[in-house]
Amino acid sequence: MSATSAPTVRPSTGNTSTLAVSGGTPVSKSPIPFMSTALTPADIEAASAVLKSGMLRAAKKCEELETRFAQASGAKHMMTCANGTCALQLAYEPLFQPGDEILVPAWSYIATVSMVVARGCTPVFVDAIPETFQIDMKDAAKKVTSKTRGIAATHLYGCPVDIDAVQALAQKHNLKVVYDAAQSHLATYKGNGIGAFGDAVTYSFYATKNLGTGEGGSISCNDDALAKSIKLLRSHGETDKYLHEHIGYNYRMNDITGAIGCSRLDRLPDQTKTRQKNAAKYDAIINAIPGLTPPATTPGAEAVYHLYVVKMDTTKFRVSRDEFCKALMAEGVPTAVHYPRSLPKQPALAKWNTNDCPVADKLSSQVFALPMHHDLTDEHFRILGEALNKVAAAYRA
Ligand SMILES: Cc1ncc(COP(=O)(O)O)c(C=O)c1O
Repeated sequence: MSATSAPTVRPSTGNTSTLAVSGGTPVSKSPIPFMSTALTPADIEAASAVLKSGMLRAAKKCEELETRFAQASGAKHMMTCANGTCALQLAYEPLFQPGDEILVPAWSYIATVSMVVARGCTPVFVDAIPETFQIDMKDAAKKVTSKTRGIAATHLYGCPVDIDAVQALAQKHNLKVVYDAAQSHLATYKGNGIGAFGDAVTYSFYATKNLGTGEGGSISCNDDALAKSIKLLRSHGETDKYLHEHIGYNYRMNDITGAIGCSRLDRLPDQTKTRQKNAAKYDAIINAIPGLTPPATTPGAEAVYHLYVVKMDTTKFRVSRDEFCKALMAEGVPTAVHYPRSLPKQPALAKWNTNDCPVADKLSSQVFALPMHHDLTDEHFRILGEALNKVAAAYRA
């Protein structure tokens, strides 16, 4: 049922106070900010220094971001680019060939898979793990064929996938691995930055991401030849001024974006720690509400909580997830659904839907994201706790 449909609420049994959605008093009159993306004076100063310099193209600030973000991610090379979708394209093109079958998550943002299609490859959907929402490598192993050449795995919501399992399957079948870390800046796995693993790792710096510059992206890798190929592809295969040895694109970043990225990177480690502390506060609230489950993390992974995504057991409540979220909004708690459809159920990807990802399909009606950022206060958590408990009690089956 969509958020706009009429609620089908059966009479309440044990509700203590009237929900704001039914005319009661909201827990908070003003909604809690869902995210915190505002620039600081330091970011503005960094951007305006570039504007004043007149050096607007990709130059020193992009290079600085590449060097610092590579180091922070545990990768040897980092190449900035225009956005996270270009980053996927730049990583896939040298590693995957048209006609290859690529194992892809059924539960992710579309770009992870649409760029596999754009490369002329065949996406083979792999189901999600119901507790972590990450790609299920046991399902992936069952879907390997003689044509499988790669794995495109998303570190979703800020949580690394089971990298050991991905790398083991890749090694067994000689597959290339690209990790989509658009949502997972500075995440670690078994103590190492996620840039240390796989053939390439891609990032998005879209405005709402943990490291947001407006638009922007990057690719990391540890292989010198691959880094060279990606740099050539990024800039029209140009090996010398107006000498083009390969067909490529203009997927470059610019120095205004680079400067904002560098400035924001200064604060990212602290902000990430705050997100992790906030996730622990949420876990305590959610664990105490039967029917709601906090997101589990992959063993060995340190998540950076781009999103804090809760799973709702809809059999434990009298309303759908969308109605539950509508009531939360009325109490002052905005939510968002990432994602309202599994990828095999996207019309654009229907050709590759083999109807064998039941967990991902079910997640689309179960999950919702709560406000998550570094500016959440104790007062916000008081409101969050009260609103979640109020709505859950009112709608308990
Ligand atoms: C998992 C994932 N991959 C790729 C992208 C694409 O990044 P961009 O919007 O920068 O092109 C996003 C952006 O939302 C994403 O969340």
